[in-house]
Amino acid sequence: MRKHIVAGNWKMNTTVPEGVALAKAVVEASKNLPEGVELVVAPPFTHLVPVAQALEGSKVQLSAQNCADKESGAYTGEVAADMLVSAGCGLTILGHSERRQYYGETDEKLVEKVRLALGAGLKVILCVGENLDQREAGQHFDVVKSQIENVLFNFTAEDMKNIIVAYEPVWAIGTGKTATAEQAEEIHACIRKVLAGKFGAQVADDTSILYGGSCKPSNAKELFAQSDIDGGLIGGAALKADSFIQIAQSF
Ligand code: PGA
Repeated sequence: MRKHIVAGNWKMNTTVPEGVALAKAVVEASKNLPEGVELVVAPPFTHLVPVAQALEGSKVQLSAQNCADKESGAYTGEVAADMLVSAGCGLTILGHSERRQYYGETDEKLVEKVRLALGAGLKVILCVGENLDQREAGQHFDVVKSQIENVLFNFTAEDMKNIIVAYEPVWAIGTGKTATAEQAEEIHACIRKVLAGKFGAQVADDTSILYGGSCKPSNAKELFAQSDIDGGLIGGAALKADSFIQIAQSF
């Protein structure tokens, strides 16, 4: 059975003390959550160690937002997968559209990143999604399909146990514009079909596919009610513990 997951991507927000306070507030609020929903927070690199401490003893899991495509060595400014593990991370987001758009992250690079992250023992939240031009040109299914094929088809059914997919239409991220539940569901169903074609129906059925892009308490219920939407990757609304937890209560 696939898991329900709500993950907060803090992006480049909060100072260390603010991030620790937010993590503590999330832990506090998560005590009232029904069973069966996994919570993840993804703060900036600088926050990982103190946030890991703040999460200790709770069920809230710690994720990074990115990792290097190299194992170690002379790569100034990069952070390797095993460093993330040693800082207390159990997961990392990879391939966020902001990484693809502003930092030249390609599918080829992502294959390396996913390989290193899995090898270090991290779970991966792999982001895919079309931009506005691609959506308007009717290419959204093809774009998402090729992102999945280019990256995940290099891995095995066994690897897929540690991979979560996040569908994030770029035009919906931080814009206040959400994909309708119908628009999201049809892409999620398509992703599951593509995974089934490569890895078999069981693997596809067991893979959690999250929706991201202006997901908030007011629309989470409708989105999470769709049969192929297994949770959310939340940006703006994850910066307040209350709204983050309200989203997690929307299943
Ligand atoms: P948003 O960001 O919820 O602020 O739209 C989502 C994301 O980019 O992960």
